[in-house]
Amino acid sequence: MNNPSHDAPPVGAPSDTHRLWGGRFNAKSAAIMDAVNRSIGVDFRLWPFDVQLSKAWAVALQHAGVLTAEERDAIDVGLDAVGVRLAAGESPIDSDEDIHTMIDRLLHEEAGAAASKLHTGRSRNDQVATASRLWTIDACARLDAAIRELQLVLLTQAEPLQGAILPAYTHMQRAIPVSAAHWLLSHFWPLERDRLRLAAASRGTSTLPLGSGAVAGCAFPISRELLKGALGFNTLSANSIDAVADRDFVAEVIFVCALMATHLSKLAEDLILYGSSEFGFVKFGDGYSTGSSMMPQKRNPDALEIARGSAGRVLGDLVSLMGTLKGLPSGYNKDLQDDKRAMFGAVDTMLLVLPAVAGAVSELTFDTVRMRGAVSSGMMATDLADYLVEQGISFREAHKAVGSLVRQCEETGLELHTLPRSAFASAHTAFGDDVYDALSPQRSLERREVEGGTGPDAVRVQIEQARLALTPAGDATGREGALFVGRRP
Ligand code: ARG
Repeated sequence: MNNPSHDAPPVGAPSDTHRLWGGRFNAKSAAIMDAVNRSIGVDFRLWPFDVQLSKAWAVALQHAGVLTAEERDAIDVGLDAVGVRLAAGESPIDSDEDIHTMIDRLLHEEAGAAASKLHTGRSRNDQVATASRLWTIDACARLDAAIRELQLVLLTQAEPLQGAILPAYTHMQRAIPVSAAHWLLSHFWPLERDRLRLAAASRGTSTLPLGSGAVAGCAFPISRELLKGALGFNTLSANSIDAVADRDFVAEVIFVCALMATHLSKLAEDLILYGSSEFGFVKFGDGYSTGSSMMPQKRNPDALEIARGSAGRVLGDLVSLMGTLKGLPSGYNKDLQDDKRAMFGAVDTMLLVLPAVAGAVSELTFDTVRMRGAVSSGMMATDLADYLVEQGISFREAHKAVGSLVRQCEETGLELHTLPRSAFASAHTAFGDDVYDALSPQRSLERREVEGGTGPDAVRVQIEQARLALTPAGDATGREGALFVGRRP
C-alpha cells in the first residue's frame, strides 16, 4: 500500500547496542516483541522532519542552558551528516525500533558525546507528534498541487465543449439537456471543496506539540515560541496531555482523502459509462488504457477503474484509524503508532490516483454527435410545461397536459416533436403554433441562464469562476492568498 520509495531499506546487521530505553530491564526483550514493536518500516519517511525538529530542539536546549554553543554546534553538524547518510540510503539495523531511534544512533556516530544530551526534556511522544504534523503539512501541499492539476485538465477539456449538448441524468434516466462543459465542470467543484477542506486540515495541523515531553510538559526552560517560529507552526498546543495523543489531524486528512476518492470514483464511473459502446460519448486515449490478453478489440479504462476502486481502500484507512482512536485513554498509547500506516496509505494512494485520473481525462476525446443524438424531444417535456405556464396556466395543469402528450408518444411510438399539431391542441387549448420551438434543446439550455445553470452565459461565468479558483491569488469564494499556512521554512 505504501509507496515503496518511501519505505525503509532492508534491515541490516543485528545489533541491540543502541536503544532509547532499557536501563531498568534485566533481560533482553523477546524477538517477537521487537518485531511487533518495530515501526521503522513505516515511519522511515519521517526522517527529514525528525532531523529538522531535532535541530530546532538543540537550539531550544542551548537557549535553556542545557547545551553549550559547542555542543549545539556539534549536534547541528552531526544532524546534517545524518541527513546526508539517510538521503543516500543508509539502512536501519535491528535495534532501530523506529526512525527516531535510528537518527539518535547515527547522531551518536557523527557527533559523539554531545549527541547523548539531545534527548533532554523531550520524548518520542512529542517528537513523533511533531514530525508527523510536519509531514502532514507537506503532504497537504502535495495533494493540493495534484488536485489542481486534475481541475486544470477538467477545465481545459470543458472549455471547447460549451456548445455541445448531452442529456443530464437523474435516477440514471435521461432528464434534461445540458451543456457538455456544464457536465464536466460538475466534477470540478467537488475537487475545489476538497482543496478547501485540505487547506483547513493543514491549518489545523499547524499546532506545535514539541515541548510537551512524554505527557506533562518539558521541565527545562525551553522556548516553545522559538520552536514554533523555527519549525513554521501557527500555534502552540495548549495542553501537553492532549498534544501527545491528538491525532485529529490524521483523521481529518484521511477523511479528506476518502471524500476526494469518492469524488474521483464518481467522475470515473461517469466516464466509464459514457465510454461504453452503448453511450459512446467519450473515447479513451492509449496512454491510460489497457488491452485484454484474450479479446484483441478491447480498450479498457483501467486507470479510471482503479481510481473508482481506490475509494474503498482509502475509506478502509479512515475506518482503520478511527477504530484505533476509539476507546483509547488519554495520553500517548502505543496503539497510536499505527496512525502513520493509515495516513501514508491514504495519501500515497491519492498521490498515485490523482495524476492517473488527470492523465486519463487529458486524453479523452468527445463524440459530440453521439451526445446530441442521445437528446430526444421527450427530454424537453419540462420546457413544454413551462411554455404553458408562460401562457398563464398553472404548473400542475401544464404538467398533466404534457403528461398526456408523453403517453400518446409511448402509445404511438412518436416523439414529442413528431406529434401532429392537433395532438397539442387537444391536450391543451393554450398550445399555439410556436409550440415546436419549445422542443428545441438549444432553447432549453438558453432558458437556464440562472447562476449555476446550464445556459450558455451562465456556463461562461462558471468557467471564469473555475479559472479564478485555480489562480494562486484566490478562488471563486473570494478567498485570498496561498491555501497553506504554517509550512516549514
Ligand atoms: N514509534 C512510535 C510512534 O510512532 C514513537 C513513539 C514511541 N513512544 C514511546 N513512548 N514508546 O508512535
